[in-house]
Amino acid sequence: MSPNFPNKLSIPVMNHLSGKIYFLKRVDEIEPSDELLEHLVAIGNEYKVYSWIFKEMLKEEPYGLNNANDFFEMGRNGWNENEQFVFMLMTENGEPAACIDIKSSDLDGAEIGYLSSVKHRGVMTNTVIAILNLARDEGYKRLFALVQKGNDESSDVMLRAGFLHNEARSEQCETYHYYETSSQQ
Ligand SMILES: CC(C)(COP(=O)(O)OP(=O)(O)OC[C@H]1O[C@@H](n2cnc3c(N)ncnc32)[C@H](O)[C@@H]1OP(=O)(O)O)[C@@H](O)C(=O)NCCC(=O)NCCS
Repeated sequence: MSPNFPNKLSIPVMNHLSGKIYFLKRVDEIEPSDELLEHLVAIGNEYKVYSWIFKEMLKEEPYGLNNANDFFEMGRNGWNENEQFVFMLMTENGEPAACIDIKSSDLDGAEIGYLSSVKHRGVMTNTVIAILNLARDEGYKRLFALVQKGNDESSDVMLRAGFLHNEARSEQCETYHYYETSSQQ
């Protein structure tokens, strides 16, 4: 069994701090306009996003337009192959605010990953909850995330979204905390 996500998804998500409504969309259904790509480059170079996600991967080079284009291509391929599911959270005006993905079609347990722009603080936890609900509707029994030790803001997102800290697995690993949904969902 594989997930079969609906087309034309546009799931409303509220920013907990501002009360503004955003929309969670499949990345293969978003047009990568020049303006959108520029926004992604700006987000990729934001201090927290860059240092936690891209600094090591890009060998300390800045996040560039080529990286934003590659991100879209990777996102479209994942959807085409029904193997990885990248979503983008958009403002009402079509600006990107956050990204989140389900990294596999394994309904028994799939990893998620996410990042958000500091300009839109307050959206991440509710976006994770929206993905959790969507994944459950698609038949996923369990989601999990690996959070780098020291990334306390991300750990807080996990706990606010109702994930459980797997103490035993986290203790065994030098680099990551392991969070997961309970298998009862
Ligand atoms: C990790 C990251 C996504 C966290 O973002 P964030 O803005 O702290 O997360 P949220 O939007 O959920 O929360 C922002 C604030 O709103 C509050 N909030 C948001 N949703 C809430 C909810 N549903 N209920 C209660 N409070 C909520 C939080 O308490 C937080 O306030 P605080 O900092 O005063 O405690 C962001 O820092 C980031 O993108 N970092 C770089 C990439 C990264 O680390 N990704 C994760 C890899 S594992």
